[in-house]
Amino acid sequence: MTTQERFGTKRASHVKVVTMLVLGIETSCDETAASVVEDAVAFGRRIRSTLVLSQLAEHRPYGGVVPEIAARAHLEHLDGLIAQALREAAIGFGDLSGVAATGGPGLIGGVIVGVMEAKAIAYARTLPFVAVNHLEGHALSVRLVEDVAFPYLLLLVSGGHCQLLAVEGVGAYRRLGTTIDDAAGECFDKGAKLLGLGYPGGPAIERAARGGNAGRFPLPRPLAGKPGCDFSFSGLKTALAETVRRAGALDDRARADLAASLQAAIVDCLHDRTAHAAERFTARHGGGHALVAAGGVAANANLRPRLTQLAAERGLRFVAPPPALCTDNAAMIAWAGIERLKLGLADPLDFAPRPRWPLDPAAASARAR
Ligand code: KG4
Ligand code: ZN
Repeated sequence: MTTQERFGTKRASHVKVVTMLVLGIETSCDETAASVVEDAVAFGRRIRSTLVLSQLAEHRPYGGVVPEIAARAHLEHLDGLIAQALREAAIGFGDLSGVAATGGPGLIGGVIVGVMEAKAIAYARTLPFVAVNHLEGHALSVRLVEDVAFPYLLLLVSGGHCQLLAVEGVGAYRRLGTTIDDAAGECFDKGAKLLGLGYPGGPAIERAARGGNAGRFPLPRPLAGKPGCDFSFSGLKTALAETVRRAGALDDRARADLAASLQAAIVDCLHDRTAHAAERFTARHGGGHALVAAGGVAANANLRPRLTQLAAERGLRFVAPPPALCTDNAAMIAWAGIERLKLGLADPLDFAPRPRWPLDPAAASARAR
């Protein structure tokens, strides 16, 4: 029997339904992550273990993520991390119902490492394999911790992505808006670099902004007030660079005020575009649904109250996963695997890792990004 004959069906008929225990693997950027998530009739959903190994130290000397270094680091650490995730979950490979790995989009060397590992485990243990879209991992993560029904409006804000989506079901994503240049997380990261605050920029800006005066340095809010749900951040980044240049040597006060001004501008932009999307979403689906924020930037403590208020004004309920589930992790990949396996969706072992993989292919082909 060929590999494809064993695993090549879209239906994972041998998935155990009473208790599902899925191993999740995430290697698409600079974090190596492994997690075991359980979905049991008796206990509900539980993260049995979740481990995230940051490669920050390896990349710091280069001022950004170096793809080859990332891939090698994933290769070096993944086996040990999976063993530890199983140990902490108090299970062995034989207890698993399936293996899910990020299949893209991301740095292809790292994605290949995670996908190959998951395929090897699936093949050796005759388990279904699920290739999860990293963005779908973020999109569904909220359902791991809260009862959120479809459809919901999703603000997906991370270092590489900035989108507004109507999540209408597993695999059913309608894009309402996207960035025409940088992602919001990228703007935080580049802003932090300009202010000498280090990487990753989001948490550093948030920390530095505490006690800062957000009104001292006027910065633009690109596209705010304009029709539509698209984002733009490159003009804001340029304006910050110019403001920093004019300010000269920065003392702690100026740095805090600049960080607060940048954070306020980004949060205002996200709020404005999400308000437009909420209008469109409720016109189609009505009220009573959830507004969900996911991705690393959703961890921002200033963004959350603004979205809570926006949701309340539009008859929606604001929900966001806890910060550790917002930034990259493998529990969200395991959970997306469970969501897919419950629908009988598994992938063949000849799945090819994808550097690009839009969640809404129709919207992606209509626009470059
Ligand atoms: O989802 P994520 O961990 O990785 C990607 O898929 O990109 O998101 C990382 C991004 C980085 O740009 C980081 O600066 C940003 O999320 N981030 C934050 C915060 N924590 C992480 N941005 C603003 N405030 C935060 N607290
Ligand atoms: Zn991510």
